[in-house]
Amino acid sequence: MRKLVWLTDLHLVEQGRDWPHGIDPLARLRYCLDEIRALHSDAERLVISGDLIQIGNPGAYGILRSELDRMPMPYHLLTGNHDNRAALLASFPELSSAEGFIQGVEDLGDMRLLYLDTLAADGKHHGELCPIRMRWVREQIRSADERPLLIFLHHPPCDIGVPALDRLRLFNSEELGDLIRARNGATHLFCGHVHRNASGLWAGHPFATLKSLHVQFDLDVTGSGLTRSIEPPGYGIIFIGPNEIILNYRDIPAL
Ligand SMILES: [Fe+2]
Repeated sequence: MRKLVWLTDLHLVEQGRDWPHGIDPLARLRYCLDEIRALHSDAERLVISGDLIQIGNPGAYGILRSELDRMPMPYHLLTGNHDNRAALLASFPELSSAEGFIQGVEDLGDMRLLYLDTLAADGKHHGELCPIRMRWVREQIRSADERPLLIFLHHPPCDIGVPALDRLRLFNSEELGDLIRARNGATHLFCGHVHRNASGLWAGHPFATLKSLHVQFDLDVTGSGLTRSIEPPGYGIIFIGPNEIILNYRDIPAL
């Protein structure tokens, strides 16, 4: 089986800055990358689905670059609501795309990996796909034909049942849903942003969300504000076979 490794919501900070929630995000990232080097060095890609830095810490992209450049496999980065495209591109110029967004597509064997940029134009915390991005997404999904398609995006396109998180999901996801619903080939969405593991069906195909490597948010089904959870951090290992896509969730110690 082919193997991918998936991380999300690192929330790295610049040297000397306060740690969000009192948790050292770099210590957790280093633990995770060490484990991946030891156990999953055969993964074909390492994907990080956004919130690479804590908002207002653009210098942290340089820290991320030096950590990732020690990994044996190629990596791909997405934007989240805490990210800054210009600062991200300054450290990772290879992520630039003709459309001006941090979005990309890769064909790995007979499967297509699609990396979306759902950062809102107004810098707010919900997600969006403007008409320019939607046109590109439409072309990539249609030209995938019936090949397996794995779509990575920061903001989930649907609710997960936690009101404080659901109000910050991808807005106006109907067209994306129509494109996915029309597909015949295997399709799976992988989303960050909610700092929780959740999975289900949307637009006729499976989706999963993933724990942050940093703080977790609680399964608070009534509150209107974000509540921190005691759950440990984690990441994902994705196996792809001829007729299956399998996500394994892996916790790491809450350093
Ligand atoms: Fe986040």
